[in-house]
Amino acid sequence: MRIKNICCIGAGYVGGPTMAVIAHKCPDIKVTIVDINEQRIADWNDENLDNLPVYEPGLADIVASARGRNLFFSTDVEKAIDEAQMIFISVNTPTKTYGLGKGKAADLKYIELCARQIAAVAKNDKIVVEKSTLPVRTAQAIKDILDNTGNGVQYQILSNPEFLAEGTAVQDLLNPDRVLIGGDTTKEGQEAIEALVEVYANWIPRENILTTNVWSSELSKLTANAFLAQRVSSINAISELCEKTGADVNEVAKAIGMDSRIGPKFLKASVGFGGSCFQKDILNLVYIAKSYGLHEVADYWEQVIIMNDHQKRRFASNIVRTLYNTVSGKKIAFLGWAFKKDTNDTRESAAIYVADDLLFEQANIAVYDPKVEKGTIYRDLDYLGTRPADANRENVTVYTDPYEACRDAHAIAILTEWDEFKQYDWQRIYDNMKKPAFVFDGRNILEGQKLEQIGFVFSEIGK
Ligand code: UDX
Ligand code: ADP
Repeated sequence: MRIKNICCIGAGYVGGPTMAVIAHKCPDIKVTIVDINEQRIADWNDENLDNLPVYEPGLADIVASARGRNLFFSTDVEKAIDEAQMIFISVNTPTKTYGLGKGKAADLKYIELCARQIAAVAKNDKIVVEKSTLPVRTAQAIKDILDNTGNGVQYQILSNPEFLAEGTAVQDLLNPDRVLIGGDTTKEGQEAIEALVEVYANWIPRENILTTNVWSSELSKLTANAFLAQRVSSINAISELCEKTGADVNEVAKAIGMDSRIGPKFLKASVGFGGSCFQKDILNLVYIAKSYGLHEVADYWEQVIIMNDHQKRRFASNIVRTLYNTVSGKKIAFLGWAFKKDTNDTRESAAIYVADDLLFEQANIAVYDPKVEKGTIYRDLDYLGTRPADANRENVTVYTDPYEACRDAHAIAILTEWDEFKQYDWQRIYDNMKKPAFVFDGRNILEGQKLEQIGFVFSEIGK
């Protein structure tokens, strides 16, 4: 079957960029992205491309190339489902905040709602593609719902996990290391797989398109993220040891990364990993392992999260300890709030947890991030539920100018590795700070040497 019409449910960080690239590369396919969030759809349709709801380098150009031609953003979910041959599900799957599996299992309510909506609307056969990160065997749940509530329509469920990293989403989509498609081993399943392979083959070499059974595909996604996060926790564990022994974690990372069996990527010590995937996917893996009684497997992976939490907390307590054991009433400037550079996404960002710890110590926090909006920062803190919303607004101030954020601060904490931080006039920043002036580089991006010459007390993770 040749696909001519695709619908994607969920216009977020995954659905938006992925579909924009498919539409850009496949002008013959009509791609409609739907979302129940009207504001989000309005933003995707905004004439001014600076207002797109997702910031990703290169994304605006891709959207501009296809929007209105074969790429459409809409709130009419039913119409898009009805017209499509292939439906991608890209809705959010947060960790459950209630009931069984609370804090660990993925909350599948949005996925289930999508499946029910597809079942209610579909009048002809559909291929349904899981794009969100889902626990293993979700495809089966989707299939059960579709087969038992539908109107005799035949469904094929594919798993096509997303490996794009935020900040490099467009590049990752244009030149992926691999595309993974899992489907049924039946003839119909193989035909569905082939239909999706055809779509990607418009710009990706076939040898980079891997096909597997559904379960392998679903589990590969969780495993890839667990391995990547594990590397970060591993180097972060070594960073603490470096601080005690006088070894330099950057030198260690370089030395081990040159071993071709280890490789150089994902060995940057930091204040801790964030993002919507790593923690959620590992918690999911842990939950699945436990549910099969595999306690050693569960504990093994859980340690990656425990280490990450420890690294965030350690960073905050280092600030307090260094500032003579009190930050009460002191202004601490945060450079960066996003969970990594080149994105406006803040989900699970280390900055949130470091801020929370420092607020418990009665610090006044001044935040500057080039892409994150003020409202998001307050929402992130409010969401923790650790103090009244008023207290967050009273003790956290958001700045649009980094120099103002740092003025009269006792210390600066670098929480995101934005490139622009390296270009700042650090002498000017120093001159306007309280002395002694401290910089805590949670991202290993500034050269300690120079800042120390200016007069800063400089501390970098792993040194
Ligand atoms: C990740 C996976 O990389 C991607 O394949 C998957 O589809 C979604 O989850 P993402 O969360 O967007 O992508 O970003 P990633 O680049 O993986 O970084 C995750 C976190 O780890 C960030 O907070 C980053 O700063 C941190 N990190 C990464 C480090 O602290 N050190 C490193 O060496 C690498
Ligand atoms: P991700 O990083 O997985 O893309 P986001 O939260 O950025 O996650 O995006 C998910 C999107 O899915 C949100 O914009 C949300 O409004 C949308 N969504 C959730 N449930 C539904 C639904 N039943 N129908 C349409 N859109 C939905």
